[in-house]
Amino acid sequence: MNELDAIVASAQAAFAQAATPADLENAKARFLGKTGSITELMKGMAALSVEEKKSRGAAINVAKQAVEAALNARRQALADAELNKQLQAEALDVTLPGRARGTGGLHPVSLTMERLEAIFGSMGFEVAQGPEIEADWYNFTALNTPEDHPARSMHDTFYVEGGSAKAPNLLRTHTSPVQVRHALQHVKQYKALVDSGQPMPEIRVIAPGRTYRVDSDATHSPMFHQCEGLWIGENVSFKDLKYLFTEFCRTFFERDDLVLRFRPSFFPFTEPSAEIDIQFQSGPLAGRWLEVAGSGQVHPNVVRNMGLDPEQHIGFAFGMGLDRFTMLRYGVNDLRLFFDGDIRFLSQFR
Ligand code: PHE
Repeated sequence: MNELDAIVASAQAAFAQAATPADLENAKARFLGKTGSITELMKGMAALSVEEKKSRGAAINVAKQAVEAALNARRQALADAELNKQLQAEALDVTLPGRARGTGGLHPVSLTMERLEAIFGSMGFEVAQGPEIEADWYNFTALNTPEDHPARSMHDTFYVEGGSAKAPNLLRTHTSPVQVRHALQHVKQYKALVDSGQPMPEIRVIAPGRTYRVDSDATHSPMFHQCEGLWIGENVSFKDLKYLFTEFCRTFFERDDLVLRFRPSFFPFTEPSAEIDIQFQSGPLAGRWLEVAGSGQVHPNVVRNMGLDPEQHIGFAFGMGLDRFTMLRYGVNDLRLFFDGDIRFLSQFR
């Protein structure tokens, strides 16, 4: 084998051994680089005669072309291998079954809220909202529950930043602060109507939402849901509350034979106050009294805090436990199921 054939053979072997494009470029330098063996041979031609240059040059060129051909072939082979590897790694198995999305649904407590808004809406009630982080004044003081009032201890809650050192902001313990918020938001408008000789419109509003207390067992959760109701006018009485709430419960549970009981109770913001119990006449809970709401005639101090005159405006408020209503409607016995997020439970309400 002559010298040129030997160079070509060793280039082919070196290229074949290169496992990566970087290896291949390194091997190329050994033959075609500045000091590569082919390049050195060309430099050596300077000393030759014209005749010798011709034949030697042609021979070196043939060898150089053979080396370049081997280089290009190997480059292509490495690129093909890389592409195949990638194609395999990213291959899709089109025979795999698709992943189902499933149908979503509303949370059972949301279903109760929607139902409630529809029923009270049909009775002329609008829907109001208030913040879950509430000022001490709205949650307690405005509701006739001043600082150090013993009733505050039943509403132990979570205090957050904001407010004053003496009265920090808190997670609201009930939806009752929305009573005062809603009235104050509209009182200007009411007064303008009265000043122009028109009667003041009645306040008829419900306020469903989240509430918080330091409480946790099968029937209490630190976060729960209530719905407030407020009906204020010039001549709204307890009898209206009884009628309204009875109609609401019978519609909500779709039971004409539902019986209600108003049991005397105490809340600082109502006087007189009553706890509302219901009783089913058939089904698994038949004959048991179940407490579902607190209620009462709005206390004159609260009416005053709404910016209204208690000599002219009278009415009632109620606050119902939405989780309780949902449990009774669907026969759920543990409140915590609502908030665990277990899809097996929740999908039953779809
Ligand atoms: N806010 C009371 C509670 O959470 C319920 C209530 C509302 C009672 C309105 C009377 C009037 O217990």
